[in-house]
Amino acid sequence: MNQLVNKSVLVTGASSGIGAVYADRFAKRGYDLVLVARDRTRMEALAERLRRETGVAVDILQADLTDAGELAQVEERLRSDAHISILLNNAGVSTASSFADQSPDEVAKIINLNITALTRLTSAVAPRFAKTGDGAIINISSVVGLAPEFGMTIYGATKAFVLFLTQGLHLELGPKGVYVQAVLPASTRTEIWERAGWDMNAVPPTMEVDELVDAALVGFDRHETVTIPSLPDADQWKTFDTARQSMISNFNQVHAAARYHLAS
Ligand SMILES: NC(=O)c1ccc[n+]([C@@H]2O[C@H](COP(=O)([O-])OP(=O)(O)OC[C@H]3O[C@@H](n4cnc5c(N)ncnc54)[C@H](OP(=O)(O)O)[C@@H]3O)[C@@H](O)[C@H]2O)c1
Repeated sequence: MNQLVNKSVLVTGASSGIGAVYADRFAKRGYDLVLVARDRTRMEALAERLRRETGVAVDILQADLTDAGELAQVEERLRSDAHISILLNNAGVSTASSFADQSPDEVAKIINLNITALTRLTSAVAPRFAKTGDGAIINISSVVGLAPEFGMTIYGATKAFVLFLTQGLHLELGPKGVYVQAVLPASTRTEIWERAGWDMNAVPPTMEVDELVDAALVGFDRHETVTIPSLPDADQWKTFDTARQSMISNFNQVHAAARYHLAS
């Protein structure tokens, strides 16, 4: 059993996959937990095991984060519970169908969970963390957010939002003492693929979920802003990000670029 740290982590999407493994790892580091998802039975089983194995306190908040009222209860917990020092925004959904085959309601559902809920929870906790000058927010994005070529347009767009949000919050909250990390998993063996309706024979090479989370936590311990556990060469991300940053000083100009001048 680990020495208890008297802080807790609120984990969304804690009933399975990446969220359940993060819950396990933080409990083993001595953190108390607040588990959030819809499936109470699975969270109770996980909570019971983690209490027994680690001695930490585990609380369960059953919530559908796409339901405004249930989401508000989780927001309130984040605002008022000073014990919570880490928010792990992990709950997310994907879909195998292409944009034109998705109904507006399906599209909205993905945005509601992957963007709206994540942003509202972050908004609920950030002022408290900024005021106390500590705390951490881990946002689970995806490499799909960097690759429209994968053909998962709405899902990827939500994950690009999560990456941008994290980079922006890193700049805003970092100087106030709050650590913000985006984790970009690639294909990882969890239930998300079947839930999204994928043909499991068409799934790309896949990492085991324990390996993914353990690697992401190495990035967390190093206080990386962007962690891409599967990317072999970290310099590829650095080169990409440096190219992006090199454009910034050129954006604001009084005149359009020469290539857009009307031919006279
Ligand atoms: N697996 C991959 O290949 C992969 C790759 C890149 C990024 N990711 C990201 O990793 C995160 C975790 O996914 P996973 O792979 O671990 O998949 P998963 O096993 O399907 O886990 C998703 C979690 O989100 C919860 N959830 C789903 N809808 C919810 C809702 N409306 N309200 C509250 N909770 C909800 C689920 O719990 P309930 O059903 O009990 O609510 C579950 O705990 C997601 O953000 C996903 O986009 C996954």
